[in-house]
Amino acid sequence: VSAPPGSEIGPDGAVTADLALTNGRLVTPDGVVTGGLEITAGRISRLLGVDAPARAVRTVDVRGRYVMPGVIDSHVHFRVPGLSHKEDWTHGSRAAAAGGVTTVIDMPNTQPAFLDPRTVADRAGLIEGTSLVDFCFHLGVDGGRLELLDHVESGAVAGLKVFMAGHHTAPHVIREPELLAAVFARAAELGLRVSLHAEDQATFDLLDEWRGAGRHRLNADLARPRSGGIVAVARVIELTRRHGTAAHVLHVSSAEEVDLLTAAARELPITFEVTGHHLTFTRADARGGAWRNLSPALRTARDRERLWRAVRRAEVTTIGSDHSPHTRAEKLAPPGLAPPGMPGVQELLAAVHTGLARRWGRDPDWRMGRIAQLLAARPAELFGLAERKGRLAPGLDADVVVFDPDVTWSPTGDSIWSRCGWSPHEARPLTGMAVLTVRRGEVIWDAAGRRFGRPTGRWTPAGVRRGPRPSTEPASAAR
Ligand code: DOR
Ligand code: ZN
Repeated sequence: VSAPPGSEIGPDGAVTADLALTNGRLVTPDGVVTGGLEITAGRISRLLGVDAPARAVRTVDVRGRYVMPGVIDSHVHFRVPGLSHKEDWTHGSRAAAAGGVTTVIDMPNTQPAFLDPRTVADRAGLIEGTSLVDFCFHLGVDGGRLELLDHVESGAVAGLKVFMAGHHTAPHVIREPELLAAVFARAAELGLRVSLHAEDQATFDLLDEWRGAGRHRLNADLARPRSGGIVAVARVIELTRRHGTAAHVLHVSSAEEVDLLTAAARELPITFEVTGHHLTFTRADARGGAWRNLSPALRTARDRERLWRAVRRAEVTTIGSDHSPHTRAEKLAPPGLAPPGMPGVQELLAAVHTGLARRWGRDPDWRMGRIAQLLAARPAELFGLAERKGRLAPGLDADVVVFDPDVTWSPTGDSIWSRCGWSPHEARPLTGMAVLTVRRGEVIWDAAGRRFGRPTGRWTPAGVRRGPRPSTEPASAAR
């Protein structure tokens, strides 16, 4: 046996791992099997069968719970720099770790917004030393300075993020169809994936001029109706067909959009995300203030069930949290002024598990397989992380979660870790909990002792690695 780097050789010559998890239900890409795994120098060094003895410095008997890959949440707003009164990486990454998330991809609508790829190392530098989880970035697109995209180095960002409609926290909007086409063309040349907030601003403006803006300010589903999403999705499909650009439509909210995207995905490089919010709540839950207002708006129960069917059939590519914290005071602002968005990174895994269990309760192993696929494997593949993350397999980063499917809990009081201090799930019981979260071999969350690990999360090279530039790792990518 040759020892992986960092491992110890015991007196009898056997290799000793740093940590072993035993007696679990391992959620592997090939199915759920009883067994465990060993971790050495931050990587998974061995999967263990039922009777294989573990040889490790520390062994944890997980007593029949699931052992699954760490969740990769490809849609969070951790608000640094400039908006850290809403969230920061100390709090946001605690919420992530407590929710079984080991890697996040952060959105660019901070202050200042992240629009210049030459500042990526600075952005990572602001975070390093404060994050429990690994991280990388979506780069925002400045419509007036498309030439900035030429500076994207291979591996430096997960892809581009385009807002097709604006609101409080999203000032950089690409409204004009010609400009959007130019972004698609350039992104295709550079081999960059474009993730989109696909709501059509012109559609909203047209309706507002006709009926008077503010008419529906208490009802986001009417103020920013599904037609805005449908028009935008049609445009994205058209542009993908014309330019061949890889496009990922974020937080899809309506049944029509799911149908269009599922149909288009059969022939085009187009994918889509649904969020824990749109899977959990409907517009009826958004009554009583702005707490559960987000953009795109919550739709009807029929729409929500179409999103769940997309999960069941794996039509959807990724499930993200769209963790968008705002303070209580901000959410209590008068109707129409309160910013859209709510926290969700801590609740994502449990919310998806809860919804699946409620609808298709018969087969827990199937459920966990689907969760591992849509919350870990697929986001890793889509955003260029799959060489290191997203599966339980020897050689990959030891990003591992022990998940207890039987625990029922509600986020309240001091069990809410986000800096904003509230949760849309308060008083709505969730089933299933991350009881142990391990990131590159380090325990970063232990539910039994309510203990977090060290903030040694790293900037992780991501993104599509092709295009006209030489395919090298960015020298500055801290590893
Ligand atoms: O509801 C939302 N909140 N939608 C977005 O697109 C942005 C987000 C935020 O940043 O708060
Ligand atoms: Zn978002």
